[in-house]
Amino acid sequence: MSDPRDPKTSVPQRLRSVSDYVRGDVRSLAAYSTGEQQPGFVKLNTNECAYPPSPHVREALAKIADESLRLYPDPTSRHLREIAAATYGVRPEQIIAGNGSDDCLTIVYRTFLGHGDSVGCPWPSYGLYDTLAGIQGAKVLHVDYRRSARRWDLPDQLAHTGARLTLVANPNNPSSTLTPVSQLRRIADDLDGVLVVDEAYVDFALGTDPAASMLPHLDAHPNVIVLRSFSKSYSLAGARLGLLFAAEPLVAEMNKVKDSYNVNVITQALGGAALQDRAHHAQVIARTLAERARLESELTALGWSWPDAVGNFLLCQVGRRALEIYHALRDARILVRYWDTPELNQAVRVTVGTPDQNTALLDALRKLM
Ligand SMILES: Cc1ncc(COP(=O)(O)O)c(C=O)c1O
Repeated sequence: MSDPRDPKTSVPQRLRSVSDYVRGDVRSLAAYSTGEQQPGFVKLNTNECAYPPSPHVREALAKIADESLRLYPDPTSRHLREIAAATYGVRPEQIIAGNGSDDCLTIVYRTFLGHGDSVGCPWPSYGLYDTLAGIQGAKVLHVDYRRSARRWDLPDQLAHTGARLTLVANPNNPSSTLTPVSQLRRIADDLDGVLVVDEAYVDFALGTDPAASMLPHLDAHPNVIVLRSFSKSYSLAGARLGLLFAAEPLVAEMNKVKDSYNVNVITQALGGAALQDRAHHAQVIARTLAERARLESELTALGWSWPDAVGNFLLCQVGRRALEIYHALRDARILVRYWDTPELNQAVRVTVGTPDQNTALLDALRKLM
């Protein structure tokens, strides 16, 4: 049987475009866009920690032996999970380690969402929730936050979208706002589905509110999954590590879909060392919160405002000049985050940096405003 020919190129139509073989869901996907990386810039655009990791992390790195590099890592990150279980008061069987909490999210999506299923989340929130849904061929149901100058309140309708999987970032990104755990527990009870509470930034919130995490309530809610990241308060964004916590039967199912060796041997060791240095962790949080308070008082003096923030970043409402401010800061070699979307295009998100970085930002803004 002969192939029909493309009249313009005389190439057999069968070979016209390799992209024709790509799944439709992927072709129509808008790729997730990460924050810009520019060496030598003051980087306040991706909510990394301003301070270095624990010195114990560096010691652990120095001890990585040739032998452990030669062999595959423990596929279950057993030792790291034991340390995490002791730190967080859960059982190791309730934990999966991931290559960043993004990997934990991928594991969750693969486990719960098939083609045509739906996933719900309040909006605006972390953009990757949408991208991962697109990859699974799942539909996203956004429920808008109830927004006022100082608050972003979670709408109770979130429990009634009919979605199989519902995600809440708490604290939320990009708003840095916190939903009370009592409301999340109510939503978990009302849902006919699974609730993921993404606590990437919760350690900063716990610095002032010891009841900010859903983790202590895991046993009371068999349909809840909690995620933690080492990219923020543990200063290990480059090493890629996240933890997923859930009831054991859910963990057993999710373990089936994770990549076998998803956390490398170096990261497993660094994560354990970081978790065990509680004093360093507390100090990083205290320093970040102190710098956030300074930034807040100086930005207030400049006339800026933001919803009440509990994370290591502020979603500054700056009005129509947002894009201009973003570009002017970039020209001054300072990166902040800007989104050209109707919900966020009057704001810039600013990560709390070191004292020097924050001073550089404030000096640049004083010249600009
Ligand atoms: C809400 C939220 N969840 C998850 C992540 C991803 O974290 P990780 O670096 O652990 O993959 C981020 C990163 O910015 C985030 O803002």
